[in-house]
Amino acid sequence: MTDSFLRYKGKKILVTGGAGAIGSNLVRVLAEYGAEVTILDDFSSAERWNVPSYRNILLVEGDITDEIMLKRVFFEKPQYIFHLAAFFANQNSLDHPEKDLKVNGFGTLKLLEYAQFTGVERFVYASSGCSIYGCQAPLPLREEFMSMHLTTPYQITKMLGELYCNFFHHHYEVPVVKARFFNSYGPGEIPGQYRNVIPNFIYWAMKGQPLPITGTGEATRDFTYVGDIVNGLLAAGLEDKAIGEEFNLASERETRIIDLANMINQIVGNTAGVLTAPKRKWDTKSRLLASVDKARRLIGYEPNTPFDIGLKNTIAWFEENWDKIENCARFAPGASAAVKSYITNK
Ligand SMILES: NC(=O)c1ccc[n+]([C@@H]2O[C@H](COP(=O)([O-])OP(=O)(O)OC[C@H]3O[C@@H](n4cnc5c(N)ncnc54)[C@H](O)[C@@H]3O)[C@@H](O)[C@H]2O)c1
Repeated sequence: MTDSFLRYKGKKILVTGGAGAIGSNLVRVLAEYGAEVTILDDFSSAERWNVPSYRNILLVEGDITDEIMLKRVFFEKPQYIFHLAAFFANQNSLDHPEKDLKVNGFGTLKLLEYAQFTGVERFVYASSGCSIYGCQAPLPLREEFMSMHLTTPYQITKMLGELYCNFFHHHYEVPVVKARFFNSYGPGEIPGQYRNVIPNFIYWAMKGQPLPITGTGEATRDFTYVGDIVNGLLAAGLEDKAIGEEFNLASERETRIIDLANMINQIVGNTAGVLTAPKRKWDTKSRLLASVDKARRLIGYEPNTPFDIGLKNTIAWFEENWDKIENCARFAPGASAAVKSYITNK
């Protein structure tokens, strides 16, 4: 937290997807800085109990593609928009490609149209590192590289969102910023069939099950603590140098999936070990490691949270909320760690 974020005090802010894993963390911090926050979320992958309760957070339940809902949340002319709502993520988009396009493509277009009509001070788009760089970019991943060989509809539509942002910036001068997240993890992400690897590993470890690894476990990811991503988003909303730009929000640290599994088993005290399942066809990225030099330069971003501390915070959140998490974790019927948990290590 920095004093410059006090500039959000009293500002009208719309957070789409504000009930989700990253959004719920963002709205909490914005509310604590005294912003007037409106969440637009349809709860397709979120739970009401996970939404922070503050007098300055207004929760509007609805779809970002629904004109009536958009009119409602733009009536107050939000000054800042953090557009985080998305159909999440890779495997989900393979199973439901049309829904993915509708929410991530059409939904982003609609938000940009309303942002342009009402005149916002900043439109921050939640982009995705895994959706831009493909699997042939040199490491560490830098913003200049872009792949045309994406492997899931989600990757295509998240990139489409960036392209729409560019169009609205160039044609209508909408002050957009595109923040490319890498493998967010932390308190607030509820495990489930289409969720990320860290909450799913913690869930199965707490149930005493072996952790399912797709592939050999040698693949790496750049896991980024949600608190660091929130700080990056807040800075992206305020720094003028960020306007029209895209940059990575990552940790600059590479972790092998097998090491992650062993760490989680050790912290939780799970003795069931790991098991391996075949690699998924779309999962072509053997290593993910991003540079955050550009974010450092433009917005002063710094990923400060050590991995072991981030993991411990996340596990502590699971322990505090275990009954609710167990009740609502969405896995395919009959899924167990041994057979069906297709983890989403994007
Ligand atoms: N979590 C990551 O590792 C990661 C990585 C890269 C990019 N991102 C992007 O960051 C954003 C937030 O991700 P997250 O991890 O918090 O995901 P999430 O699924 O927890 O949050 C998305 C939220 O959007 C809501 N939503 C979905 N469709 C909607 C619709 N049609 N109308 C209104 N609300 C809708 C969901 O209910 C959910 O609360 C997404 O845009 C995602 O693509 C996330």
